[in-house]
Amino acid sequence: MGFGRMGWHELLWIGRLLVLMQLVHGVVGWGKDGHYAVCKIAEGYLTKDALATVRELLPDLAGGELASVCSWPDDIKWYYKWHWTSPLHYVDTPDFKCNYKYCRDCHDSYGHKNSCVTGAIFNYTEQLFSAYQGYSPQLSYNLTEALMFLAHYIGDVHQPLHVGFLGDLGGNTITVRWYRRKTNLHHVWDTMIIDSALKTFYRSDLGVMIQAIERNITDAWSNDIPSWENCGHNQTVCPNLYASESVRLACKFAYRNATPGSTLEDEYFLSRLPIVEKRLAQGGIRLATVLNRLFNSEVKIARE
Ligand SMILES: *[C@@H]1O[C@H](CO)[C@@H](O)[C@H](O)[C@H]1NC(C)=O
Ligand SMILES: *[C@@H]1O[C@H](CO)[C@@H](O)[C@H](O)[C@H]1NC(C)=O
Ligand SMILES: *[C@@H]1O[C@H](CO)[C@@H](O)[C@H](O)[C@H]1NC(C)=O
Ligand SMILES: *[C@@H]1O[C@H](CO)[C@@H](O)[C@H](O)[C@H]1NC(C)=O
Repeated sequence: MGFGRMGWHELLWIGRLLVLMQLVHGVVGWGKDGHYAVCKIAEGYLTKDALATVRELLPDLAGGELASVCSWPDDIKWYYKWHWTSPLHYVDTPDFKCNYKYCRDCHDSYGHKNSCVTGAIFNYTEQLFSAYQGYSPQLSYNLTEALMFLAHYIGDVHQPLHVGFLGDLGGNTITVRWYRRKTNLHHVWDTMIIDSALKTFYRSDLGVMIQAIERNITDAWSNDIPSWENCGHNQTVCPNLYASESVRLACKFAYRNATPGSTLEDEYFLSRLPIVEKRLAQGGIRLATVLNRLFNSEVKIARE
């Protein structure tokens, strides 16, 4: 049955539903699409061992797909029980400082140390490490939650404005127009650039966008992948590096020409989209690399 048979009432109702879905969709972090893309890309680069362990850890509602629960930390942070996780999605640098330092920057607004996105990445990596690579099993952390937090926060730390200035809350208080729509700069980078790209270049199909990014991973960027994966000193994960890259990109691309009240259009969109796509790729590759290191059974056997 086509739309031809529907009355205006039905069409209006569908229209409102779509608007409502857009709104609900619009309030989350690197939007749902960004997190989905990072995790979907990561899934394609997991080793057999890592994929098996990820599937073991995933909650039933994930249907065996990591990408389907990668926005879980955004969904829960509004609940009282999970309120303490809100500061774990970002880290702020002092105003107009285009560098990041763990000791200086990783704390929440009450000054609690390690309460920031890079601290959380260390925390959940350590929990999984001690469970899967450690000599003795650690305390009873919920490793399902650890996996979902880690996957989400590795995505977040790659969004340049999740490592932005304290004074404007990572662009949240910078009101701008995105074409005709009033929004803020943080939201532009979480969601609007990806939304516009989907409509303009990818037939509104996130799968098509992800495939385009994956093609670049195997093609245009293939020589860079080892350097994305590398952590130096054989570390399992290196969120300080990811955060340093992000704040540099925030200064060079996100904040530039996006002063309060400005209207951002084609020029901004087309020059920033490649940055966004590359960050989604780097987030995905690095998430896969970390999970591969954590869940590699060979290392575990060697240590036992
Ligand atoms: C580390 O994770 C545990 C379990 O979720 C949590 O209780 C603790 O507060 C976390 N610490 C930091 C610094 O994020
Ligand atoms: C672990 O966390 C998930 C998600 O919050 C929850 O559904 C599950 O019941 C928890 N498992 C245990 C053993 O507490
Ligand atoms: C692919 O890489 C090229 C060259 O770096 C870049 O111009 C283009 O925007 C990239 N496309 C995607 C989807 O990442
Ligand atoms: C990293 O690990 C390799 C192989 O285990 C080892 O040969 C190398 O010395 C290590 N490098 C550092 C900097 O620890």
